[in-house]
Amino acid sequence: MRAKILIVDDDRDILLGLENRITWMGHEPVTAGNGKDALRLIEQGDVDLVLLDLELPVLSGLEVLERVRGASHSERRTEEDTSATYTTPLIVILTAFGTVERAVHAMQLGAFDFLTKPFSADHLTVVVKKALATVALHRQVDVLRQEVDDRYDHLVGTNAKMATQLTIAKQAASSDVTLLLLGETGTGKEVVARAIHRWSPRRSKPFVAINSAALPEHLLENELFGHEKGAFTGAVKREPGKIEVAEGGTVFLDEIGDMPLPLQSRLLRVLQDQTFYRVGGTQPVRTNVRFIAATNKDIRRAIQQGTFREDLYYRLAVITVTLPPLRERMDDIPALALHFLNRAVRMGIHRTCALSDRALQALQQYQWPGNIRELENVLARALILCPEDTLEPAYLHLENSLSPSATEAETGSPLRHYHESMDAYSRKFIEESLRRNGWNQTRAAEELGLQRTYLTKLLRQKDIPGRPSKDSSSSSEEDSH
Ligand SMILES: Nc1ncnc2c1ncn2[C@@H]1O[C@H](COP(=O)(O)OP(=O)(O)OP(=O)(O)O)[C@@H](O)[C@H]1O
Ligand SMILES: [Mg+2]
Repeated sequence: MRAKILIVDDDRDILLGLENRITWMGHEPVTAGNGKDALRLIEQGDVDLVLLDLELPVLSGLEVLERVRGASHSERRTEEDTSATYTTPLIVILTAFGTVERAVHAMQLGAFDFLTKPFSADHLTVVVKKALATVALHRQVDVLRQEVDDRYDHLVGTNAKMATQLTIAKQAASSDVTLLLLGETGTGKEVVARAIHRWSPRRSKPFVAINSAALPEHLLENELFGHEKGAFTGAVKREPGKIEVAEGGTVFLDEIGDMPLPLQSRLLRVLQDQTFYRVGGTQPVRTNVRFIAATNKDIRRAIQQGTFREDLYYRLAVITVTLPPLRERMDDIPALALHFLNRAVRMGIHRTCALSDRALQALQQYQWPGNIRELENVLARALILCPEDTLEPAYLHLENSLSPSATEAETGSPLRHYHESMDAYSRKFIEESLRRNGWNQTRAAEELGLQRTYLTKLLRQKDIPGRPSKDSSSSSEEDSH
């Protein structure tokens, strides 16, 4: 990374020396001889790191530091303004020998590090490298945070079914009741969970997600409750779990249907008593968090099968919000598609791109087994492959998907249940073989690996005509002979 480094010192020789060193290190130096000029340059917003002397004319180094750190605090994100990002530079203090207390004070005010003059070039290099590594890390965090926000901070759509559910969620948000979010995969459960957190009085505290399906039991236990030093081999110090990290905020228990039974019992205790024990701990830890759980599993069936505790279910499902699958909110497709296309443009995936009417129609006819996530992926893929500014249906590749609608296209019937689907598929399979074999049942039976008599029985059972119907004969000439 080639960084822009501001050097602030009223000693010309020091300025020159540092400038040379910074240039030698491959970075871009800028200089200021007093605090006022330094502040003006920092406010321009593109400085990555400041080497700041404390003894300065006009405005002292400490005053500069205080103003910069003050600005970074007031830049904190609020619910209304989600655009501000952390842009204030890191500050390394240059302090004269014998004034270390002031340097310590500067560190308390938020300086990153300090160098005592005179310092060696090597020492300077080490400190600058360390500071820039931290700057790079901050940037990465900013980018990732922006990506998460971009993904989860938008609730697009006005569909009536969805709106009813969101009204319930909004009403519940202001209280501390536990919510259970139900819905197929990709329907937006995490998006809604984060929205509930934003609508709640806990919005300035952390939102922490834990995925029960992602980890084996002992790791999940550790993730939830943390551990004490020595709790197990490798537990070299006490580590808080996510419930503790979320203190004051919201814990999102994703894929709760996959939580192992022993952990369900421990979680139930947390919900009942608002206390828990860290792994290996003997002292109860009090907690103040709000729980939101989500699953795409049929929890009632899991209860019947004994894999989910009924008492936990009732504790979690004080309020249940059920997100409709996308195929039941097709009226939201234009708005969602526009949202994803705009986002792709913002991310530089494509310049501009519009959906053709036919493409929009294709999106609205598809069944979306993967729901909004699938829509998002289909559009992302289409945008990458599409060289034009208008997306046509061919780029959506919907007909190739292994989905009910693809099967529907193949079998020509709208499908719901397994047996219905299989029946329709086997009809199509047999018909195609007959057609390929010129409606010769002996040859078709051979091809299918069936007894001729069994094939005849199947034809009767499934009411498949043994001869070409008018439609199919006109569609394929060679088959009818
Ligand atoms: N209303 C919405 N507006 C905009 N984007 C949405 C909306 N709902 C979902 N999405 C997008 O769809 C994707 C899937 O959403 P999310 O992860 O919340 O689904 P989920 O129900 O948690 O799925 P899973 O059960 O697979 O975890 C996300 O990338 C999200 O940005
Ligand atoms: Mg999810």
